[in-house]
Amino acid sequence: MTDRLAQLSNHLAQPSDPTRLDGQVVLITGAAQGIGRATAELLASKGAKIAINDLDEERANAAVEALQTAGHEAFCYCGDVMDVKFPPRLIKAVLERFGRINVLINSAGFLNDAAIHKMTEEKFDIVMKIHNYTPYRMIHALSGHWMDPANRAMTKTIINISSTSGLHGAMGQINYATAKAGIIGLTKTVAAEWGRYGVRCNAVAYGWIDTRMTKPPDPDEKL
Ligand SMILES: NC(=O)c1ccc[n+]([C@@H]2O[C@H](COP(=O)([O-])OP(=O)(O)OC[C@H]3O[C@@H](n4cnc5c(N)ncnc54)[C@H](O)[C@@H]3O)[C@@H](O)[C@H]2O)c1
Repeated sequence: MTDRLAQLSNHLAQPSDPTRLDGQVVLITGAAQGIGRATAELLASKGAKIAINDLDEERANAAVEALQTAGHEAFCYCGDVMDVKFPPRLIKAVLERFGRINVLINSAGFLNDAAIHKMTEEKFDIVMKIHNYTPYRMIHALSGHWMDPANRAMTKTIINISSTSGLHGAMGQINYATAKAGIIGLTKTVAAEWGRYGVRCNAVAYGWIDTRMTKPPDPDEKL
């Protein structure tokens, strides 16, 4: 009885913080900068172990070093998530490093704007690839790990990134707006199909945020 009272009193004195992510493994694509990097920093500060992917190796390494210097566990596995063979390699690398993946954030992205009459097949196609095909392939690559009955009780969360362009349409962004609307259908389908396996899948539709993506192209940029 005394033990039980002590246990209750301890719980009341230290209410658990529901925003903590201690020990959870978070994989974020496109996390060398911008929204992905800010998300990595926030979730690391909540106790998560962070796996960063990006095309930009230099910036990805800098992001990992900054996280490690702040005392967090982090590593990066760089490469092009649009390459159809890459998502399974990325998932394998994170599993080899951390043993599991609890959260996938599909943040890698870019724009390729043009007015409707100037839009080309190539511009339309590449934007659909990065914002629709790639998140689908990342999720597909996670199937084996997340459908494993041994991982039934594990926290499993996906966050896809939509945009107000996808919700309302946007001048000059027929490719991007179409893709960012598409990711909402993808998100709801994953939630409907995988909810029974304990997977949560949500999308965040940001408005304008000051990142490299929304700045005029820098002629000195390598990528
Ligand atoms: N910035 C905004 O206003 C805004 C608004 C709504 C939604 N979004 C979405 O948020 C996400 C992040 O955008 P951001 O603003 O942080 O842009 P950002 O340019 O700052 O970061 C995107 C990162 O993705 C990486 N990336 C691009 N293609 C890649 C590929 N094929 N493989 C691996 N990495 C790749 C880039 O190298 C870059 O580091 C995107 O999906 C974007 O569409 C941004």
